Amino acid sequence: MSYVSHLECSACHKHYPTGQPHNLCECGGPLLVRYRLDRIRVEFPRERLAALPRTMWRYAPLLPVGNPGNVVSLGEGGTPSIHAERLGKSMSVGNLWVKDEGLNPTGSFKARGLSCAVSMCRELGLRKLAIPSAGNAAGALAAYAAAAGLESHIFMPIDVPQANLVECRAFGATVTLVNGLIGDCARMVAERGKSEGWFDVSTLKEPYRIEGKKTMGLEVAEQFEWDLPEAIFYPAGGGVGLIGMWKAFEEMEQLGWIGARRPKMIAVQAAGCAPIVRAFERGDTKSEVWHDAHTIAAGLRVPKALGDFLMLEAIRASDGTAVAVSDAEMLDAGAELASTEGIFAAPEGAGCIAAARRLFAGGFLKPSDRVVLFNTGSGYKYLEAWSTRFPRHAASEQDKLGGLITPR
Ligand SMILES: Cc1ncc(COP(=O)(O)O)c(C=O)c1O
Ligand SMILES: [Zn+2]
Repeated sequence: MSYVSHLECSACHKHYPTGQPHNLCECGGPLLVRYRLDRIRVEFPRERLAALPRTMWRYAPLLPVGNPGNVVSLGEGGTPSIHAERLGKSMSVGNLWVKDEGLNPTGSFKARGLSCAVSMCRELGLRKLAIPSAGNAAGALAAYAAAAGLESHIFMPIDVPQANLVECRAFGATVTLVNGLIGDCARMVAERGKSEGWFDVSTLKEPYRIEGKKTMGLEVAEQFEWDLPEAIFYPAGGGVGLIGMWKAFEEMEQLGWIGARRPKMIAVQAAGCAPIVRAFERGDTKSEVWHDAHTIAAGLRVPKALGDFLMLEAIRASDGTAVAVSDAEMLDAGAELASTEGIFAAPEGAGCIAAARRLFAGGFLKPSDRVVLFNTGSGYKYLEAWSTRFPRHAASEQDKLGGLITPR
């Protein structure tokens, strides 16, 4: 049994029934899951959470899966919010927290979205799943599809981080490397999907990945004892985490779990691909395609996000902002985070530290504000990027295989 009442288009508000596969609304808008919150409010008070396991599935009443037997879980969610005291001191602030999503299965927060989406694919009887991805979503889909015994078809840019290519192949996915960016990958999935019988699990083109991602917002609320922090920094590509957390806050307010106050939602992008920052600064409701996108933060190389209007809405409604940081700033900040706090971040997450430093210094945030920085992925998945800071000059691992005699 699930508490889902229907799906609703985020653009034109048309309703769709549950229980069958859906991609976008006929108007092209992303569909969002709506729940019978009045019933959850009565039947699932937040005190019930205390006894539940520390994965994102502890919030099952606010997730779309009807039959618990369909849940595909590798232990996603339940990541710590770590008080970054030493790093905070270097910014003269006392309440800096890092939500470390690098500790998820497959080393990124994409695990949450794909655990939920693949579970729903299983529930709806979909067996062949396809995804265009900047890298980490591909790895996560490949892992969860493997765990569910489903096919995964992956389309990634040719220069995706090595870890993403290797993990997808190891998980048994069919991988196509595309000479282009994520938009080009998306076009290939759309073109071939129908004849191949693939279900398209692209960002926001199906309604369930965002439901998994929204659990980050539920966890922040629970970890801050239902009194949300003053600001949340999130490295935004497609923006699903940000939109998902915003949705979670609305649902929790209706459940009576939190009040009306919201954190400032702060989107962090790479200077080499910052369509949301540009749209925010111009006062636009949608973004324009960013040409010549380039950054080492692979997950932020998204020239045009389908949910741009939802991200911009949440940023503005929360009195937040959008900030672009350079690749050099990300690497500097990430090295500082690692050496002061013992957290080895993805460049995307490291960007949040650089952005926070700037917004504290400029007075946008008060030194006493409780601020959560999302490290969305593990630094271990970005060894090429980090090796530009910490190089070594040695041969490959190939010569160790089979116990060859050449000593190093
Ligand atoms: C590590 C990391 N951070 C952030 C993002 C951006 O995520 P979203 O599409 O939810 O904005 C990605 C997307 O690939 C990612 O892999
Ligand atoms: Zn619509």
